[in-house]
Amino acid sequence: MKTIINRINSEYHIENQMENIQGAGAVLRAGGVVAFPTETVYGLGADALNPEAAKKIYEAKGRPSDNPLIIHICDHEGVHCVASNISDKARNIMEEFWPGPLTLVLEKKDSVPYGTTGGLDTVAVRMPSHELAREIIRAGGGFICAPSANLSGRPSPTKATHVIEDMDGKIDMIVACDNVSIGLESTILDMTVEPPVILRPGAITQTMLEEVIGTVNVDKAILSADTKEAPRAPGMKYRHYAPKAELTVVEGESKRTCAYINQRVLELQSEGYKVAIMAAEETVNNYKANVVESLGKIGTEDVAVRLYDVLRGFDHMDVDYIFSEEFPTGNLGQAVMNRLKKAAGNNVISV
Ligand code: TXA
Ligand code: MG
Repeated sequence: MKTIINRINSEYHIENQMENIQGAGAVLRAGGVVAFPTETVYGLGADALNPEAAKKIYEAKGRPSDNPLIIHICDHEGVHCVASNISDKARNIMEEFWPGPLTLVLEKKDSVPYGTTGGLDTVAVRMPSHELAREIIRAGGGFICAPSANLSGRPSPTKATHVIEDMDGKIDMIVACDNVSIGLESTILDMTVEPPVILRPGAITQTMLEEVIGTVNVDKAILSADTKEAPRAPGMKYRHYAPKAELTVVEGESKRTCAYINQRVLELQSEGYKVAIMAAEETVNNYKANVVESLGKIGTEDVAVRLYDVLRGFDHMDVDYIFSEEFPTGNLGQAVMNRLKKAAGNNVISV
């Protein structure tokens, strides 16, 4: 399949993009697959109400068919077409955080095919804050299922080059516009249980949610590496976001972490391996390896924005082993550590 790539400068004015938007919309309405940017990561869109279209997404990604898709909507009214029994709490949350990087799990309506929800009676819904994304969703009929636009298991795409790498030749169109601002997938909040539960951490944190609706729990399976509990978002059970090389996350006091990693690098290099390190801006100069990458200053948004790009970069450098420092939690920190540990297949060492 020939993939059409439409490049849009990130300084665009939306009113000048109508041709691109209508073009993408036409492909979606015809049951095709279009990758487009959102504020979190690039999504791989198809008509959520057309099971044949949703099926193409699973094929392009190589995604297990029991892993449900998020339905993306373009306005607040859209949610009532796909979900029923929406509680007051859910309404308050939507009012506060939509459009934005928050996905709500709700009871599904019959209009939503099981092909989209992976056979579940619940449906995940999100209204992105990315204007171009919302206009493409509108042009495509208003209900677009969109997983991250990566091959299943690989790091999510935050740049057009990542999407092209994984999807060129497999889908109809890529809308390439590099203004993904968050870099990690949306927070998923299950509103079908009381109290609501965070199934995947993201930019909208537990604290932010609790300020609006009171107690919110966090699915235990996403917090620690050693838990035996199965995550309740089906997609969170798979190894995910993973680079090709073996990734180890090293936790502990900074000096000890540094000493441990540098020692391991020497050992592995003496065996002929190529080793990479991911560190914070504050500590990056303490390391020596074949490749040393800074994700940015601790506690800044840079760390989240750069994480997947840096992981993908290591694939191109053919490194054999990767070591990462821990990035302190707080705000996006919990989401960063969740993705990092999953990328490591929970290969975490405490020093
Ligand atoms: O930020 C995002 O959410 C991005 C952009 C493109 O919007 N999309 C995204 O989709 O991350 P995806 O498919 O890569 O991740 C969706 C996650 C999976 O872990 C899936 O199992 C979970 O949402 N999910 C979907 N529907 C669900 C449901 N009804 N109940 C529980 N988990 C659900
Ligand atoms: Mg994904």
